[in-house]
Parts: sequence; C-alpha cells; structure tokens
Amino acid sequence: MHDAGKIIPGMIAFVLFVTIPFWANFGKAAPEPKPELPKEYKKCVESKDFMRREHMKLLRKWRFDVVRNNMRVYINSEGQTFDMSLQNECMRCHTQKKKFCDVCHDYVAAHPYCWNCHIPPEEKKGWATKETENLTEEVSSKQPASHH
Ligand code: HEC
Ligand code: HEC
Ligand code: HEC
Repeated sequence: MHDAGKIIPGMIAFVLFVTIPFWANFGKAAPEPKPELPKEYKKCVESKDFMRREHMKLLRKWRFDVVRNNMRVYINSEGQTFDMSLQNECMRCHTQKKKFCDVCHDYVAAHPYCWNCHIPPEEKKGWATKETENLTEEVSSKQPASHH
C-alpha cells in the first residue's frame, strides 16, 4: 500500500508549485482585467468559476454539437436550457465584446479568430449572422464543415 497521507500532500504541493507563475501573476501584474459583467443578468450558463476556466471548451463543444450534430439546445447543470450560439446566446447577455471578452483576452494576449466570421453585437453584417439565411442552402451548409 502507498502512504496516501504523504502522497496526497505531496501532490498538492506539486500542483501549487507548477502553478506558481499563475498565482503570482494573478492580481499582481497591473492592470488586472476587469471584464464588465452584465447588469440585467445574475447568472451565466454555468457557474462563474466554471465559465472563467472552461468557456473556451464550452464554446468548442457548442460549435461541434451545432455544426456536426445539428444539436442546438444546451442543458446546463441546473437543467436550464440555452441556445448553443456564440452570437445569439453568449452575446445576448455579454453585449459588449470590447469591455468583456477583449478585456481578458488582451490581458493574456489571446486572440480568438472566431470574430473573423461571428459578429459581435455592435456590428451587424457578415455571413455568420442570421443573414446567412439569405444565402443558398448549399453555401451555408458547406462553410462550417470546411472551417470547423
Ligand atoms: C443569461 C445571460 C448570460 C449568458 C447567456 C452567458 N453569460 Fe457569461 N456571464 C453572465 C453573468 C451574469 C456572469 C457573472 C456571473 C457571476 O457573477 O456569478 C457571467 C460570467 C461569465 C464569465 C466569467 C467572467 C469573470 O469575470 O470571471 C465568462 C468567461 C463568461 N460569462 C462567458 C460566457 C460565454 C462564453 C457565454 C456563451 C457560451 C456566456 N458567458 C453566456 C451572463 C451570461
Ligand atoms: C475572465 C477573463 C475572460 C473573459 C471575460 C473571456 N475570456 Fe475567453 N479566454 C480567457 C483566457 C484566459 C483564455 C485562454 C487563453 C489561452 O489559453 O491562450 C481564453 C480563451 C478563449 C477562447 C479560445 C481561444 C483560442 O485561441 O483557442 C475563446 C474562443 C474565447 N476565450 C472566447 C471568449 C468569448 C466569446 C468571450 C466573451 C463572451 C470571452 N472569451 C470572455 C479569458 C476570458
Ligand atoms: C470561417 C468562419 C468561422 C470562424 C472563424 C468561426 N466560426 Fe463558428 N460558425 C461559423 C458558421 C458559418 C457557423 C454555422 C452557423 C449556424 O449554423 O448557425 C458557425 C457555428 C458556430 C457555433 C454554433 C452556432 C452559433 O450561432 O454560434 C458556435 C458556438 C461557434 N460557431 C463558435 C465558434 C468559435 C468559438 C470560434 C472561434 C474559436 C468560431 N466559431 C470560429 C463560422 C465560423
């Protein structure tokens, strides 16, 4: 038998150690990102912690489910349903991409390419909006497959 009493604290120490750069940077390096949260809503799709850590994975899953499986309804951990859409769901509440998404992404120098096609609320043009309905079925059904 292994001595769990020693291994587990050791593992915790190791995890803390390898994440030191993260903790040391968090809240220290100025200016700390302060994404502007929606005023009209109290809750996100999932918990704030989860969203902070996992929103990129959630978006990837939504995209996959919509484009590959034609599933459009997400059921969260509390049984509430959401439309699996970046523009129509995330941005319904987070209406200010610049003051929300960009604040964090600029801080960590992440530049999701999603906005090449998906349109943040300020600007309403382009082919990944609802206006794609005006395109021929063939064009709009081929686009996602080749890009996702
Ligand atoms: C119904 C409105 C609503 C929808 C839809 C929504 N959010 Fe949120 N989101 C919120 C609220 C409100 C908070 C703050 C939650 C809190 O303080 O507990 C939040 C928090 C977050 C956070 C954490 C911010 C921080 O400061 O840590 C991220 C990241 C996020 N949302 C991304 C997304 C993404 C990506 C989507 C789409 C997959 C989405 N949200 C959909 C309302 C929404
Ligand atoms: C609380 C800070 C925060 C907020 C708010 C936030 N993000 Fe992020 N986002 C991050 C971090 C950190 C990463 C990871 C960057 C990395 O790993 O390079 C990330 C990564 C991503 C990625 C993956 C990028 C890639 O190249 O793989 C996507 C997509 C994304 N965010 C979408 C959104 C959208 C859409 C919103 C606004 C609705 C949003 N995020 C709001 C912090 C945030
Ligand atoms: C080359 C253009 C393009 C790029 C880049 C792109 N998408 Fe998409 N995406 C589309 C199209 C077209 C659809 C299909 C729209 C539909 O069926 O409603 C789609 C569908 C989606 C959906 C489900 C439907 C919806 O309304 O949101 C999600 C979620 C999504 N993409 C997320 C992302 C994320 C996150 C990124 C960046 C990491 C990204 N996409 C990058 C074109 C693109």
